[in-house]
This record gives sequence, C-alpha cells and structure tokens, in this order.
Amino acid sequence: MLSDNLKVLLASTQAFAIKTQNFHWNVEGSNFPQYHEFFNTLYEDVSATIDPIAEYIRVLGVYTPGSLSRYAELSIIQDQIKIPRAQLMFAESLQDCETLGELVVAMFDIATNERQQGIANYMAELQDLYGKKAWFIRSTLKTERE
Ligand SMILES: [Fe+2]
Repeated sequence: MLSDNLKVLLASTQAFAIKTQNFHWNVEGSNFPQYHEFFNTLYEDVSATIDPIAEYIRVLGVYTPGSLSRYAELSIIQDQIKIPRAQLMFAESLQDCETLGELVVAMFDIATNERQQGIANYMAELQDLYGKKAWFIRSTLKTERE
C-alpha cells in the first residue's frame, strides 16, 4: 500500500536527517568549512521533506508514525553511532542518497498506479533532490587529476 511505503520513506528520511546533522557537527579535515556547510545544507534540504511526506500519509487517511522507536523499526537507512572520517561520511551519505533515490523511483510507480498524481509528482521532486545531492558528493569524493 502506498501509505506503508510513505511510512518507510518518512522513517528513512528522519534517519538520514539525523545522520547528516551528526556529520555536520562532527566532520573534521582540511576542508572543514566547506564540509561543515555541505552537511548543513544537506540536513536542511532533507529535513524540509519530512513534513510533506508525513502529511501525504494523512491525506491518504492513515495516521503517521511519529516516534523514534517506530522510525528505527521502519527505516531502511542504517543508523551511524560512530564518528567516521570525512571521506567515509561522504561515502556513506552517497550510498544513502542512492538508497533513497531508488525508493522514491519505485514509489513514483506505486503512486501513479494508485492514481495519486500529487504524491507521484513529489516523488519525482525527491528523485531530483537525491540525484543532485549524489552528484555533489561524487564530485567531492573524486580525486583531482594531476
Ligand atoms: Fe550548525
């Protein structure tokens, strides 16, 4: 059911938002100002999608999950309790953007099949968001040419 998928997306987005804020606070390295800023923007952009996703669940007539323990159960984004090195923070964030990107692409089809065009449209927007974030991170991770 579309609302069940939206619950997974909501929980996974919450989990990713927490992780990006962790990285924003704890990242270190010679490019600290840019890294700190990058993770702040990532956190803000990801967080901004939480409320619309939750409200789409309500639009479908279903109650939305709102507790940490439910999010931990439902999320497909792995929690990070450590402080990885900067490179690993970027690599992990890239993987998470790809995971969320794949999820919203699958959900676009489900929403379309259920004739929920507004939700499908929002899934397309999220595909765009995670695609762009993945590009930023891939470019950051790339070793410069000699
Ligand atoms: Fe901050």
